[in-house]
Amino acid sequence: MNISILGTGNMASGLAVLFTKGGHQVTLASRDASEARSVATNLGNDIQGGPLDTAVDSAEIVVLAVPFGAAADVIKAAGGLAGKIVIDITNPMTADFSALTVGHTTSAAEEIQKLAPQARVVKAFNTVFASVLQNGGQVAGQPATVFVASDDAEARSQVVALAESAGFKTLETGGLAAARYLEPVGGLNIALAYGLGHGTDIAPTWQRAA
Ligand SMILES: NC(=O)c1ccc[n+]([C@@H]2O[C@H](COP(=O)([O-])OP(=O)(O)OC[C@H]3O[C@@H](n4cnc5c(N)ncnc54)[C@H](OP(=O)(O)O)[C@@H]3O)[C@@H](O)[C@H]2O)c1
Repeated sequence: MNISILGTGNMASGLAVLFTKGGHQVTLASRDASEARSVATNLGNDIQGGPLDTAVDSAEIVVLAVPFGAAADVIKAAGGLAGKIVIDITNPMTADFSALTVGHTTSAAEEIQKLAPQARVVKAFNTVFASVLQNGGQVAGQPATVFVASDDAEARSQVVALAESAGFKTLETGGLAAARYLEPVGGLNIALAYGLGHGTDIAPTWQRAA
């Protein structure tokens, strides 16, 4: 698949490498196109870089890898993302990472769907730390789980396929409103890693008997 990642930071870089290893073509996009090209060159793997306004043109899947607070600007700069499958990986945290800024009656994912009403928004990867991506998507030799929520079942299936091609386990969690549960799990992950001393080589998963 052709994938554009909006952002050039820790998550964008880690996902770019794992997606290319899964056989996909990846373009990184930034408000600073030269920065996107430079990061892409450093990552290798034939990853491309470019500006936000054109990077999404041929993309089947777009990953929003920027802070939740930047989502409105980035979606606008990328032309609105109509018709695209848009993966929202954000954890909408306060500046000191002590709390969520939205929740209970909405979620970052649902707010992003409002900002891009013609996009097919999928919540995924928000519970996977960038350092886990750098470890090949694994914790202690086991693949991390990607929780996947969307109102668009076909978009959800495509993101499940993308995540599994990149080496992750997946768990479909229903419609986009399930992001109201997934974002607090992301918050708990951050609290465990940074507040309670577990470090970032951790990832939540779900056990079941069979
Ligand atoms: N880090 C993790 O372990 C982790 C785990 C799960 C989910 N997440 C989520 O993933 C997202 C990215 O996190 P990250 O750790 O990769 O962050 P990061 O390394 O700080 O990178 C942030 C990226 O967003 C861009 N950006 C910031 N503000 C922008 C704006 N107003 N307009 C355009 N671009 C802007 C930055 O571009 P510039 O260089 O131009 O500023 C940069 O490319 C966040 O929503 C975070 O909650 C992170």
